[in-house]
Amino acid sequence: MLDIQNLVKVFYPGTVNETHAINGITLHINKGDVVSLIGSNGSGKSTLFNLISGTFPLTSGRITLDGKDITHQKEYKRAMDIGRVFQDPTKGTAANMSIEDNMIISSKKGMRWPKFSLYKKGVRERFNDMLKEISLDGRLKDNVGLLSGGQRQALTLLMTVMSEPKILLLDEHTAALDPPASDNIMKMTEEIIKERNLTAMMITHNMKFAIEFGNRLIMMDKGRVILDITGEEKRTMTVDKLVELFKHKSNKEFDEDNALLTN
Ligand SMILES: Nc1ncnc2c1ncn2[C@@H]1O[C@H](COP(=O)(O)OP(=O)(O)O)[C@@H](O)[C@H]1O
Ligand SMILES: [Mg+2]
Repeated sequence: MLDIQNLVKVFYPGTVNETHAINGITLHINKGDVVSLIGSNGSGKSTLFNLISGTFPLTSGRITLDGKDITHQKEYKRAMDIGRVFQDPTKGTAANMSIEDNMIISSKKGMRWPKFSLYKKGVRERFNDMLKEISLDGRLKDNVGLLSGGQRQALTLLMTVMSEPKILLLDEHTAALDPPASDNIMKMTEEIIKERNLTAMMITHNMKFAIEFGNRLIMMDKGRVILDITGEEKRTMTVDKLVELFKHKSNKEFDEDNALLTN
């Protein structure tokens, strides 16, 4: 599905600010994989997503999606196949527009929905049915600005999957929410992924979420993949074991910065 070969990213090469963010990642994500991605601050998680999405050019390496080489494809073109949700709940939706208008815009993205007029029978009902999934049914005419952060993140998630992306990338999309809202969005995320058989990768600094989520867990450190587990090994993982593995694989003590991982 998503194939990443020898990926390297150096920011500001040859300057005093030279940063080696990604140091040779080779990774194959299978169709249907649901991956949690963890790693301490600055380990390169967001940069990996930015390279997959084409936000920045890569330094070297190759990325193919569904057999198609997208290494140098423009970001806006990849956006048809790659859905992204960020940490900030205000980023994915337009506050001064209704839920319905926000959904119309995202349903046009990717052109996977046939050309339609909203007045065509059934579209509004379909939108409202989808909103049931996130408990916002009956609110099509409400302005998005009226929603809580958690509700906005749920709507962003729903809008992102409407265009049927080949892969969904979630970058700490619950981190800005309070714990109950965060738990709630995590549950919705799992349901939405399962319902649509999506392939997804989710960055989280919460080890508990990382262990509970999906079928595969990847840990990064210093721009490399240091752990990649699935199956029984993932199912029997615990936070304590994960902390031990982090120490062992990164040759680092689990310091204050890394403690972020257990939140
Ligand atoms: N746009 C950028 N310009 C320069 N350096 C960057 C940029 N984005 C990330 N970096 C650097 O790359 C490294 C990895 O960052 P990032 O991918 O954001 O880590 P993570 O998401 O794991 O916390 C860090 O050293 C960071 O400072
Ligand atoms: Mg990040």
